[in-house]
Amino acid sequence: MDLYRDLILDHYRNPRNFGHLDKPDVAVEDHNVSCGDRMVMEIKFKVKSLKSKAAIEDIRFSGEGCAISQASASMLTEKAKTLAAEKILVLTLEDIVEMLGTTLTPSRVKCALLPLEVLQKAMIKV
Ligand code: FES
Repeated sequence: MDLYRDLILDHYRNPRNFGHLDKPDVAVEDHNVSCGDRMVMEIKFKVKSLKSKAAIEDIRFSGEGCAISQASASMLTEKAKTLAAEKILVLTLEDIVEMLGTTLTPSRVKCALLPLEVLQKAMIKV
């Protein structure tokens, strides 16, 4: 049994934080230029200070995409709720790969990074 693969499939089949928020503070949409799949992040902020712990009160994502992009969004939104805004802004591909627990082919890197790119755009939009 491949534990990491199972984790990705679990998040793909049962995505955490999928859906919409009532009156989010910010909503940002972007798409994967390789495939056209789009992703939206909606966020309600607890605090606006970059250094404050756990700046996000609630977060949802929506859109369509492959298992990697959906699992990445599911895991990332869970992680983001525990982080200060300044920590979210410096997350990188390495953090996403570590979070997913698997290696990625070049074509899947864009899929895995899409949620992070949308989230970071949302964080600086406020
Ligand atoms: Fe479209 Fe992965 S193939 S997001």
